Amino acid sequence: MNKMKIVTIIGARPQIIKAAALSRAIKERYADRIQEIIVHTGQHYDDNMSQVFFDELGIPKPDYNLHVGSASHGVQTAKMIEGIEQILLDEKPDYIVLYGDTNSTLAGAVAASKIHVPIVHIEAGLRSFNKSMPEEINRIVCDHCSTLLFTPTRAGFDNLVKEGFKANNEGPYTIDNPKVYHCGDIMYDNSLHFSAIADQKADLLSRLGLKGKPYVLATLHRDSNTDQPERLHAILDAFTELSKDITIVLPMHPRTRKKATDFHADNVRVIEPVSFLEMIQLEKHARLVMTDSGGVQKESYFFKKPCVILRPETEWVEIVQTGAATLVDADYDKIIVTSRHYLQHPPMDFPDIFGDGHAAEFMLQSMLD
Ligand code: UD1
Ligand code: UDP
Repeated sequence: MNKMKIVTIIGARPQIIKAAALSRAIKERYADRIQEIIVHTGQHYDDNMSQVFFDELGIPKPDYNLHVGSASHGVQTAKMIEGIEQILLDEKPDYIVLYGDTNSTLAGAVAASKIHVPIVHIEAGLRSFNKSMPEEINRIVCDHCSTLLFTPTRAGFDNLVKEGFKANNEGPYTIDNPKVYHCGDIMYDNSLHFSAIADQKADLLSRLGLKGKPYVLATLHRDSNTDQPERLHAILDAFTELSKDITIVLPMHPRTRKKATDFHADNVRVIEPVSFLEMIQLEKHARLVMTDSGGVQKESYFFKKPCVILRPETEWVEIVQTGAATLVDADYDKIIVTSRHYLQHPPMDFPDIFGDGHAAEFMLQSMLD
């Protein structure tokens, strides 16, 4: 039997982690029917932003690494497009699989659609309705070049229907007759799978001296926060103020590290980016999560923690609608008031929003069908 061949594009930290779920499902259930070629664009390259996830999550070594590194949007994306196009011409896959909304996603979408390789977009349909975010442009372009679109939430599905995608069309599916599936979130698959493993293996809390102690987990890396000094300082000042009440653990993204070189507060533990198992451990035991990350917003919900979202809007609207998360933007007062409220009155209700933890299998079966 001929195997279906897919080329998976990864590049940024969250994509490497997401790809673990699909690679795992291929290995466990579809190895006889699907061949996966992994292409790492090299968008993230520090060991703690890339290699650590391969070592820890059992992701196969990439077949190709384009080593594009950091650059402006145009330069970085152009280098990726050139490299991905050549690989697609050589490998002739049945599908290219793209995750999320980074420049690696955009490059894959442009390269593949121009040479008629059908695109599978995982995490399709999400919209912040804020086109000043580079990610919003990347999402829209990728969705509108895709053949199979897998939306993690109902809101994602509805957004696509509003943009003209059909809810109930018949195959054959093509770029001009794309198919949208609402199938749940592949990161929920991962969180369920790795939660127990993190309990056994991660020892970060002991190393930080925080086992059994209360703390808040914070992450910050959105360019709208790091690259606008007044926003960055409002957020860091709010962390400093809140840390008078409770320890804050802040694994710092390299983008933020470069902009917040002089940041120091006694009870804010700034640490290097952590591994995924360490991150799960931090999320599971935190009293509160403060973040501008898309992935961390969701994981705080998976682990039933309140979340203060350091953005004006989110594409994960359902989390906010449940009351488990609140948008505070970079507003010093809102950050402090909302955080203190959540610390005193943690939300109790976390209805299922993200599927059943088997999104990867659904996606692979749909591709084969
Ligand atoms: C990218 C994605 C963003 C995603 C994030 C996940 C785009 C446009 N943005 O943002 O959607 O949420 O990844 O983390 O694709 N750097 C290092 N070492 C690394 C990687 C980056 O030092 O391994 C530094 C460089 O100074 C670089 C900066 O971080 O210029 C930004 O990296 P880049 O990949 O361009 O964007 P992110 O902010 O990481
Ligand atoms: N993450 C991690 N270590 C860290 C910070 C984040 O493993 O130090 C994980 C996090 O658990 C989530 C993903 O990285 O699964 C989110 O990536 P990021 O915040 O970089 O990007 P976004 O989701 O906003 O695109």
